[in-house]
Amino acid sequence: MAEKRYRAGVVGLTGIGANRLEADSGAVLNTPMPGSHVASYAALPHTDLVAVCDLKTELFDQFKERWGDVLPDVRTYTDYREMLEKENLDLLSVVTSDNRHTDIVVDGANAGIKGIACEKPLATTVDDCNRMIAACEANGVPISIDHTRRWWPAYHCARKAIREGAIGGVRRIVAHMGGPRAMLFRNGTHLLDGVCFFAESEPEWVFAELDEGFEDYFSYRGDGGRSPAGDPGGSGYIHFKNGVRALVNASKGQASGFCLEIIGEEGRLDVENTVTLSTGVGRSELLDLPPHMVIGIPAYIEELIGVIENGGELLSPASEAKKVVEIIVGFLKSQERGNVRVDLPLPPGN
Ligand SMILES: NC(=O)c1ccc[n+]([C@@H]2O[C@H](COP(=O)([O-])OP(=O)(O)OC[C@H]3O[C@@H](n4cnc5c(N)ncnc54)[C@H](O)[C@@H]3O)[C@@H](O)[C@H]2O)c1
Repeated sequence: MAEKRYRAGVVGLTGIGANRLEADSGAVLNTPMPGSHVASYAALPHTDLVAVCDLKTELFDQFKERWGDVLPDVRTYTDYREMLEKENLDLLSVVTSDNRHTDIVVDGANAGIKGIACEKPLATTVDDCNRMIAACEANGVPISIDHTRRWWPAYHCARKAIREGAIGGVRRIVAHMGGPRAMLFRNGTHLLDGVCFFAESEPEWVFAELDEGFEDYFSYRGDGGRSPAGDPGGSGYIHFKNGVRALVNASKGQASGFCLEIIGEEGRLDVENTVTLSTGVGRSELLDLPPHMVIGIPAYIEELIGVIENGGELLSPASEAKKVVEIIVGFLKSQERGNVRVDLPLPPGN
């Protein structure tokens, strides 16, 4: 596609930032897919990874061990501002802890970056989301959020089926996530983004009850996503402007799993890695998934470059990712107020 080459930098060098596990084949359009930001820049035909940054210098040795043979000239920084100043980057990947995306995105947008690939969740407060969106808008910088499932074949298949009328109008969505890492901010962000992806509307109000042990958890106090102890599960309800209502069960106390039921006027879709369409008792069929899709991080970086070059809409823009943060913070406010209805959008200070 692109003739221009893009100078890329990555901030955050843990697994999702710099793993090489799946990148050895260098394949992009067919499996296996590169599983990290560094691997994606190394594999995509028109991106050059020129610099990486992390606060932990020991990760630079690991980076050189993993990537020295194919990326020997990448410069390392402990200060992302210095990297922005010196490297004249086109693309910036923000792969830092859940609560450490905001300043890097804002400074990147103000420093002339052409496109930002930011990990999920967008942020851990609505105020931070607003700061990021304002800086990107002011500088005309597209920012795409890695809510990975938006590039999964099952999600494409389900959304196409809905848009083609397979279940009639969407009425209700039931979302489940369980297991020890059923944390609202860290992984619940994927679940709630899935709900928003299929609801295709603005969340208007919510209520919720957080998991046992989180009765007094009213604003984010996690460690960035490593420890489940600082990031609650919870059960909640979301009312969307178009009438869709969603029930969310995200609890560490329930069995592992991750699935969405999308219930329409005439049928239901069960979406996981597969999509099952049910149109009545005993009438279920597995739908065919689109073959040969580019998935995961390469897909979203490719799309970002396409939008930089040609304009158009991102599949996972910050405005969508902000809905998720508003819903989760709304859940916390509901908990604080005795599990009552909380209207969205939330006022400044949240
Ligand atoms: N899309 C997905 O499926 C997926 C999967 C895994 C992780 N993630 C996301 O990726 C991000 C990183 O996850 P993690 O568990 O590796 O996080 P982490 O907390 O371990 O942080 C990643 C790295 O960022 C570095 N860092 C933090 N602040 C920095 C700063 N100001 N400058 C430079 N480096 C800084 C840390 O030193 C660390 O090495 C999170 O937002 C997480 O939710 C997404």
